[in-house]
Amino acid sequence: MLTEEHQKSFVLRRGRITSNQKNALDTLWDRYVLKEGENVDSFLSDKHSVLDIGFGAGETTTYLAKNMPNSSILGAEVYLSGIGSTLSRSNEEKLTNIKILNSDIVPFLEEKISDCSFDLVLMFYPDPWPKRKHHKRRLFQEGFINLIQRKLRKDGIFYFKTDWNHYYEEAKKLPFEKKKWKVLDEGQLDILLQELPETSFEKKALKAKRDLNKIILQKV
Ligand SMILES: C[S@@+](CC[C@H](N)C(=O)[O-])C[C@H]1O[C@@H](n2cnc3c(N)ncnc32)[C@H](O)[C@@H]1O
Repeated sequence: MLTEEHQKSFVLRRGRITSNQKNALDTLWDRYVLKEGENVDSFLSDKHSVLDIGFGAGETTTYLAKNMPNSSILGAEVYLSGIGSTLSRSNEEKLTNIKILNSDIVPFLEEKISDCSFDLVLMFYPDPWPKRKHHKRRLFQEGFINLIQRKLRKDGIFYFKTDWNHYYEEAKKLPFEKKKWKVLDEGQLDILLQELPETSFEKKALKAKRDLNKIILQKV
């Protein structure tokens, strides 16, 4: 079972929260953030559904919610300041098709999400855990990819980006079950996904002149 092996992929940091983020957390939490035990099946079923894992400041999550008004967008993040920014932008844009999970995505997917729930799962610039002794904390592992595969609908897409070359090389070596996945190029994606706004971590990577690596898998 994945849960037994699952090492937390994050360290909870308090971090600095701006007054705008605090105000958003205080006033918009109940509108957008999932309550303990809340069932999201009805939010996801019958609709094109997207999951954004570790959305950071939520640039991609809110962009997709705005530009795909008929889709349901679920974002997962444990970092409160990022949730504050995302709540604030969701309110400014009057988004009604977005929900936020403020907890670890792995047990949530395992226990609370039905199989075949998503058409698209994004995981952009997850924490790279560069030290060898921490590699097992990386999200992109065989068990995790199998979990994502189960939660995707047929033809659904898993889109991973990393600016950490070692993470990318290790991820590519994972024994993807060829019968279950097809590898895609970015050019095969919907144009909206080819023109996503840069995320905060993408900007940092570009500034530091690091490579922007992508793995795109489609469930067969
Ligand atoms: C390096 S940041 C990237 C943020 C954003 N995707 C971007 O491109 O700017 C990775 C984020 O993933 C979140 N994260 C890590 N593990 C997570 C998990 N198991 N469940 C939910 N969020 C997680 C962290 O809190 C962090 O904000």
